[in-house]
Amino acid sequence: MPAYTFFASAAGVAACNGIPVIAEVDDSLTLDPEAAERALTRRTKAIVVVHMRGAAGQMDALLDLAKRKGLPLVEDVAQAAGGSFRGKRLGSLGTAGCFSFDHYKILSSGEGGFITTDDEWLYTRAQSWHDTAACWRPDRFAHERREGELFAGENYRMSELQGAVAMAQIRKTDTMLAGYRRARDLIRAGIDKFPGLGFRRLTDPAGDTAICLILYLPTADLTRRAIEELHAEGVPAGGVYDSKVRDWHIYTYWDHIIEKKCVAADGLPWSAVPAAELPKYSRDMCPRTLDLLGRSVHIEINHNYGDEDCHAIAGGINKVLHHLLR
Ligand SMILES: Cc1ncc(COP(=O)(O)O)c(C=O)c1O
Repeated sequence: MPAYTFFASAAGVAACNGIPVIAEVDDSLTLDPEAAERALTRRTKAIVVVHMRGAAGQMDALLDLAKRKGLPLVEDVAQAAGGSFRGKRLGSLGTAGCFSFDHYKILSSGEGGFITTDDEWLYTRAQSWHDTAACWRPDRFAHERREGELFAGENYRMSELQGAVAMAQIRKTDTMLAGYRRARDLIRAGIDKFPGLGFRRLTDPAGDTAICLILYLPTADLTRRAIEELHAEGVPAGGVYDSKVRDWHIYTYWDHIIEKKCVAADGLPWSAVPAAELPKYSRDMCPRTLDLLGRSVHIEINHNYGDEDCHAIAGGINKVLHHLLR
């Protein structure tokens, strides 16, 4: 799994007694397929790609890797609902897709989420896991039809009211994405060329949800100064990684994982593996990820932006970069 994602992606692995193995992202800010391949061990159970900040991971290379190694590929689509890769919706390419509908997401029902899969057995087991393993088989009191059908599940049910809100939100997806993309295109077209200015690489620009635009500047120091000056211009800009600001989206702050914390005295999940075979966690183990994130300027996009908003944002960016980069 990638070093840049909300902590929940790692916590989810540990919560089902898996041991997260953390690998570098590259200039797409998603899991680097080569780093993922190097991180595989004889114990690897799955590869997790996170479609961070609205844009698809490197699905060609990761699907190929998963197939070559006979591993499931899990898509974390929490931040990219509605996005696609070469015409296929995110969450429909891997073995399973995981969506979040909390209040901060592209589509929201307050809280909640869902899983997509075209594997019926996985669907049956996921259904059971999320609903105390009590209700969903055709004959709920029958013996198991196949080894692995009966187990003690948990309760991750959304309420029907949240489900109704989620369904209405899903119907709005394409209208919202059209608004995001229109605004992104206007802002992007309005930004001048500057020496040293780069943009996050998109694996499929047409499928990007366009919830943000991420610029790269040459150094972390310039990035900090740019963000301060962009704020002064009223541009909705933010840093992604600043070594002085804690943030659960960056592995270096995942104390619970790096310090191998446990919920119970049995020491799980870490005690399940001989110590010599545990990943060697450290706060600087993914230097490329920290370098890229430290030089990233995140411009928030709103799907309701009008032309004037977009021109003002591009104008503010030009003003600041003109001062800092020329
Ligand atoms: C990339 C990513 N994965 C997983 C999650 C967890 O989603 P939830 O809080 O709905 O479980 C989030 C956000 O909360 C996220 O941003």
